[in-house]
Amino acid sequence: MPDGKEDMDREKFIQQHIEMENFFSGGFVPKGNPQPDSSLSEDMETPSKLKQPADEGKVKAELEQIVKEAKDCRKCEIALSRLNSVPGEGSHRARIFFIGEAPGADEDALGRPFVGRAGQLLDKIIKAMGFERAEVFIGNILKCRPPENRTPKAEEIINCLPFLQRQIELINPDIIVALGAYAAQGLLDTTKPIGQLRGQFFDYYPGLGKKPIKLMATFHPAYLLRNYSPDNRRKVWEDMKKVVTELGLPVPEQTKND
Ligand code: URA
Repeated sequence: MPDGKEDMDREKFIQQHIEMENFFSGGFVPKGNPQPDSSLSEDMETPSKLKQPADEGKVKAELEQIVKEAKDCRKCEIALSRLNSVPGEGSHRARIFFIGEAPGADEDALGRPFVGRAGQLLDKIIKAMGFERAEVFIGNILKCRPPENRTPKAEEIINCLPFLQRQIELINPDIIVALGAYAAQGLLDTTKPIGQLRGQFFDYYPGLGKKPIKLMATFHPAYLLRNYSPDNRRKVWEDMKKVVTELGLPVPEQTKND
């Protein structure tokens, strides 16, 4: 490729990233009455960003137990190549549970979900929605990194899914956000492409006799970074606005960069 074209492509690429970073980080103001703080509201008519589990101590203890079990788990061969298991993290009072595919190299190194480039974009999306990262829960379909970030194998999903199902049942979020095709297809037990799944609410059934939980699928932040377009970026934001609206919270509006 001639040098001039390479420079132009690089410049365009950098410009696209700057635009996306700006889109999800700048100029959002809450529409309607802003929330005074993130704790539970005294006024029952004002929805809160956090929920109050009936048995908080038990929920916390059982979530800790899952962390221990995931650390000791050796069910799949990928447990042998991992540096750390990545059990997931966040508030046990979360109303939103974000679920991705599997840890990457950064997550494997730190034992924390979504801490690499895709994670930084996810943090911005969460903030743009009016939440702090610590106010939601973040996890993955797999708790271990597949070598070279290959796609998860069916047997790995089957082995690992019970951890996530228990976390969902304990946290009992109001909404699950499935990030990307793997999470959406795994949780909804479908092979439909993400383009057909995103943007609408589905019911996720946490277990027999349990109330279904609303699930919104959207594009994975890594996909958004790889396939930048104003249209893809807008689609993710439209999906997240539906989530905030469904929670009864004020939808932050952009004042610039839209
Ligand atoms: N991608 C994922 O799906 N999960 C992570 O934790 C990081 C990147």
